Amino acid sequence: KNIVALQEVDSTNEEAKRQAQCGAPDGSVFLAERQTGGKGRLGRTWESPAGTGIWFSVLLRPSLVPSEISSITLLAGIAVCRGIRSVTGCAAKLKWPNDVVIGSRKVCGILTEMAAEIERVEYVVLGIGINANTEAFPAKLAEKATSLRIEAGSAFPRAAILRAVLKELESLLLNAKAGSAFQEILDEYKFLCVSLNRRVGFFWNGEQQTGMAVDVSPSGELIVERDGGGRISINAGEVVV
Ligand code: BTN
Repeated sequence: KNIVALQEVDSTNEEAKRQAQCGAPDGSVFLAERQTGGKGRLGRTWESPAGTGIWFSVLLRPSLVPSEISSITLLAGIAVCRGIRSVTGCAAKLKWPNDVVIGSRKVCGILTEMAAEIERVEYVVLGIGINANTEAFPAKLAEKATSLRIEAGSAFPRAAILRAVLKELESLLLNAKAGSAFQEILDEYKFLCVSLNRRVGFFWNGEQQTGMAVDVSPSGELIVERDGGGRISINAGEVVV
């Protein structure tokens, strides 16, 4: 397997994309002790100091069309939850679309990027950042963020968590490739998803709105019954539970 471990890089997603252009194979993993330009979703930055986090990206070359990529994002969230649960026993869940939370606080973020033409996906980069052994967060973040160490009360070897997540990801991807049981994956996602059957706030049609999250569609959209009436699907942006 192609696993590249770096002491420091701008962003493992950027490194994965650069290596993808140079022909790195499907399944390559890019891991960094520290990122100087870690990226979050929606153009945010992602704090990536050395020592406590697990910052990595997985390069995939799936034979999918662009609209099918959201299934890979759902899959990645499930793999992280399973991996965290198996090593730490923490009840990791998912906040739609793909924040991994313990209780109401975020322990991991996932940033999916892809290069595609209209008909064909060239590659997908799954960027995963897990707050593993952070002892405490600055007051401003502490309300929203947590770490495995804070939740479990003890530190974990980062390699064990990485290995468990990669193992789960590989088995989910192999099953998906074999065409087996997409319904099962969707059911597991919904089971883990804390946003469902909750009131959510979201930005839609240029306005801030509220409603009840009632389902997740096979393509990973959140289905919401708007307070203003009508059922809509949301496929990007920020949802606040
Ligand atoms: C989010 O906003 O929740 C997504 C955060 C994703 C962070 C990870 S860390 C490894 C990879 N490299 C990056 O620059 N971002 C992702």
